[in-house]
Order: sequence, then structure tokens, then C-alpha cells
Amino acid sequence: MRDLSATNKLVGTMLRKKLIAANWKMYKTPEQTREFFRAFLPMIAGHERSELVVCPPYVDLHAAFDSAHGSGIAIGAQNVFWKEDGAYTGEVSCSMLKSTGCTHVIIGHSERRQYFGESDETVNLRLKAALHAGLTPIVCVGEVLEEREAGLTEDVLRRQCLRALDAISGERAHKLVMAYEPVWAIGTGKTATPTMAVEAHITIRAEASKSLGKEVASKMRILYGGSVKPENAKSLMLEEEIDGALVGGASLDARSFASIVMY
Ligand code: 13P
Repeated sequence: MRDLSATNKLVGTMLRKKLIAANWKMYKTPEQTREFFRAFLPMIAGHERSELVVCPPYVDLHAAFDSAHGSGIAIGAQNVFWKEDGAYTGEVSCSMLKSTGCTHVIIGHSERRQYFGESDETVNLRLKAALHAGLTPIVCVGEVLEEREAGLTEDVLRRQCLRALDAISGERAHKLVMAYEPVWAIGTGKTATPTMAVEAHITIRAEASKSLGKEVASKMRILYGGSVKPENAKSLMLEEEIDGALVGGASLDARSFASIVMY
């Protein structure tokens, strides 16, 4: 499983700059967002090894963009609706996100699937809209504990990728980022071992290669998410097949997120 070809390894190292993204979920007000950046920016000054993205709640996007301005840190949203405008109470469109300076968007997070009825089909619609708008989507996939225990992880990942990427051309998908987030590892303190994560990433890349073509898939970054902490970031990030991290709880504190970034 871990037997990547020498070429793949080279491509991985040369073409896939690591991306470390913070998913703040439903935490922080605009003022707390500003406080975070005031503390965080000096801690990571001069850091260039990875790309950084912070994804706060919608109401904090403006404050985040303002606070991060000039730092090279990109700002992302945690979801987006696929329609351009209309009578869709509570929804936010791609162009609205872009008007705040937002460049990235998380799509299909397991909490959206679990609590808000998102399906592989709605993930596909959101993804198409985000790509069309020129946003960088971070599409989440991952198995629940019962699926892992039943030996279904690979099937689940294949199905989620196949449906999320349905009718999307490689040409259009060059900005696509995927995130492997095993549901049993999110907020639980249980982390997938680097080997488990690498195996899942290989499956995701193979499936993406079928849908988008080999070239796009080999350049596509796949992040790992699920209880990433300062203590385990390094062992995960040292894997060539792990192209970065999507960090929940540990990204809320400036010091802890900074030590993940500086792993
Ligand atoms: P935790 O890092 O809190 O486990 O959350 C992971 C996650 O869901 C990131 O999107």
C-alpha cells in the first residue's frame, strides 16, 4: 500500500506545497478573531514552508481578512451554497464569500453531513459552484468508526470521492484540495496513525485520478484532519503523501496553532 513510485514521491515533494488550514467551526466573535491574529502573527513571522488558511464562521470573515492582510495567510469559509442569489434564507453564495476577501471554502465536512443533512450530491453541487467561482475548495471525506471496523474504509472513500467529483473536469479542478477526516478522529483525541492516513490518501488520490486524470490528481493536495495537535503534527507532516492538515480544536489557540504550523 505504501509503495509509492519514485516519480510520485518526487512529484509530491516538488509540486505539493503543504497547506495547513484552521477550521474554527462555531467558535469566536469578530473581536476574538482580531485577538487571535494579534497573538498569532508574531509567532509565525518569517514562516514560508507551508501555505496557511484560517476558516472562521461567516460573521468573522471580514475581521479575519483585515487582521491577516499582508501576512500571506488566506481566509476561507466553512461552507457555501451553490446558487448565485435568490430566496434561500440563511445561505451564502460564492460571490458573497469572495466579496469578503475569502479565497478558500471547506465543503462536505462530516459535521455538515451528520447534523445538516449534506449528501455526496450536495457536496458535488457546492464543489462545482466553488470551482466555477474560482474559489479553492477543501472537500472533506472520511469514514465513521463502524465503517472502519467493518473494513469498509476504502469503499466509503471511493464512493465519496466518485460522487463529489462527478462531472467535474480535470481542467476545472486544478485548485481542488481534498481532506481526509476520519469521523472517529474528529474532536475525540484519537488520531489516525500516519500509516492509516497515508493509506487513505493513496485511495483518495487513486479515485481522483480516475475522475480528474493522473496529472491533476498527482498535484492535488490531500490534507489530514482529526485531532491534529502540536504533539502529533510532525509525524503526520513528515509523510510525503500527507500534504497538510485541517485543524479543528487546536487551531483556536494561537500558541497551539503556531506550534502545529512550525512543527
Ligand atoms: P479536531 O482537530 O478538533 O479533531 O477537528 C478536526 C476537524 O474537523 C477539522 O475540520
